[in-house]
Amino acid sequence: MALRSPSETPRAGLSTPTETELLALVRTQPVPQHVAIIMDGNGRWATRRGLPRVAGHREGVKTARAIVRAAGDLGLRYLTLYAFSTENWSRPEDEVSMLMKLLEEAIYRELPELMERNVRLRVIGRANGVPVPIRRGIDRVVEATRHNTGLHLLMAFNYGGRDELIDAFRTLARRVAAGDLKPDDISEADVSGALYTAETPDPDLLIRTSGEMRVSNFLLWQIAYTELWITSTLWPDFHPVDLYRAVADFQGRTRRFGGV
Ligand code: IPE
Ligand code: IPE
Ligand code: MG
Repeated sequence: MALRSPSETPRAGLSTPTETELLALVRTQPVPQHVAIIMDGNGRWATRRGLPRVAGHREGVKTARAIVRAAGDLGLRYLTLYAFSTENWSRPEDEVSMLMKLLEEAIYRELPELMERNVRLRVIGRANGVPVPIRRGIDRVVEATRHNTGLHLLMAFNYGGRDELIDAFRTLARRVAAGDLKPDDISEADVSGALYTAETPDPDLLIRTSGEMRVSNFLLWQIAYTELWITSTLWPDFHPVDLYRAVADFQGRTRRFGGV
């Protein structure tokens, strides 16, 4: 596999590690428990090649498959992929329906490999609003992988960070109304526990592809102290070696959480 672009040609005496070398190197240090990824740039990837946007989404699905494998090889516990946001419904109808079809097919096709690799799939987002056949297909895979104990793969689908917070406030308000919780006792743990990501540690590292410097309504509560890594690489061009580079960069950082 060619891993060195011309701009990365090693200088005399230095060499760029290969994908395998980088993976081995990264694994000598603690890896983040939870990596979240905003998979962006499929449309631009296709447009630059004179292809319809859906061709970019098709390539994007292949990238997602490779990154799930790479996350397993790295030994991550949790990987969250932003696949479809509540705002993405505003795209042209044909793009939305092709995306839905692609995601549904991909999830179902991946079931044997998810089982083989011991990956557990969970979906975060509002189930309401997702076409019923697609929801059923996804639920089947979630159910089939329920007892897998390896990587937890969280797919953010029909996901919006603000919707997630609204749903959490509703859950907490119901508990207060039922007399199960006092308003003054509401803690961070109560809020975290009412989110779609309940029982999942906050992401340590958030990756965004395609160079946009924004969070686009993703995991608003959970990323309070998450390290950010943004690359201009478009999602279909993102390879496992890029994930390893992001993790290597993360391993060199000092997280202070507001302390010294
Ligand atoms: C990310 O790629 C995939 C989804 C949002 C579903 P985009 O479709 O946003 O691609 P760009 O950002 O337009 O290039
Ligand atoms: C974020 O990408 C959503 C997903 C990757 C699913 P968008 O392409 O929708 O985000 P904006 O519109 O550039 O903020
Ligand atoms: Mg985009």
